[in-house]
Amino acid sequence: MLCKKLLPMICFISLQIYTFNYNLDWQSFFQYIDIIETKFKDASHITIVRNNKTGELFLIKQKKFKLFSETFAIKETLASYIATSTSIPSQKVWIIPKNTVNNLHYKNQIATLHTFLPGETLLINNIYQDLDIRQRYSKDMDPKKMGITRNVIHQMSRHPDLPKIAALDTAVGNVDRSLHNILYDKKTDRFWSIDMDNSFYINLCEIAIQQIKSITRDRTITFSLKEIQALTIYRDTLIEFIRSNHPKQIVDLLFSITKYTGICKRIFNKEQKLHGDSFILYLIYGYKKNIIQSYRSAKELVFFLNKLLQNHVVDHSPDE
Ligand SMILES: Nc1ncnc2c1ncn2[C@@H]1O[C@H](COP(=O)(O)OP(=O)(O)OP(=O)(O)O)[C@@H](O)[C@H]1O
Ligand SMILES: [Mg+2]
Repeated sequence: MLCKKLLPMICFISLQIYTFNYNLDWQSFFQYIDIIETKFKDASHITIVRNNKTGELFLIKQKKFKLFSETFAIKETLASYIATSTSIPSQKVWIIPKNTVNNLHYKNQIATLHTFLPGETLLINNIYQDLDIRQRYSKDMDPKKMGITRNVIHQMSRHPDLPKIAALDTAVGNVDRSLHNILYDKKTDRFWSIDMDNSFYINLCEIAIQQIKSITRDRTITFSLKEIQALTIYRDTLIEFIRSNHPKQIVDLLFSITKYTGICKRIFNKEQKLHGDSFILYLIYGYKKNIIQSYRSAKELVFFLNKLLQNHVVDHSPDE
């Protein structure tokens, strides 16, 4: 019985490796690295580094808690791939497997390397400090407050980058878009997505379908022109996501990144019995399921967004 369950798990190791550069020659990379700053955040240790040849800045992130830290690194990397392949303003992420280099804060633990993005989190005093594009979800929550609510639609109409980031969150099930996890660069007037390591739990596309259906049914709800423009960008970004991220490719990538982290060796012990890390594999298969279901729902969501955009009522009173 257990064997039947384990067989597909073993098979993933031989799956085709999708070509995405989530690894680097780490010895060479760290030869030219100077540490600029280190800091503890709530959940992570952050090191900002500079390549002393090119001047490029990067950020190294390690979770404070070792337990399941590989899964966070895997999700961060995968979500950054989806974002960058869908032209969503986002960081790019690489995985540094544990024991690869000596200069990490937690020596014996996985890390991720991120492109260092300009700007500040929105907690700093600025015109967006009350922004709220978080698509919430919890089991006991009133369904009206989940996912893409009427308020989130309004919020994402405040800047053309926001509906793109909101579409990314819907597509990958990221419920963690707090003000800590978005950067705003005043100089260029651009938003950037960071911190996607809580993705792939929830099918936010399905939740968005329910919201969009209920908004469409309610004839008292109207939209400003800006909100319609935001919904159009949101829909178009989802279409681009569907075109560039076939679930087979994403699942292959999920498995090849998982293999690269080195956890596969620890899944079974010498007697081929399940090891402590096998729970990680259970989680990985949960992400796979989420990727496939969310992709299917994303297509359906586009259908309902089209319906809404065709039949909406525009409120011509000026935006706030
Ligand atoms: N790519 C990046 N470019 C610039 N700054 C970044 C980048 N990624 C993260 N940061 C900074 O580091 C902080 C912590 O990163 P991140 O949110 O990914 O980690 P975390 O584990 O969620 O920590 P926290 O619990 O504080 O949110 C961010 O709030 C931001 O200030
Ligand atoms: Mg964060």
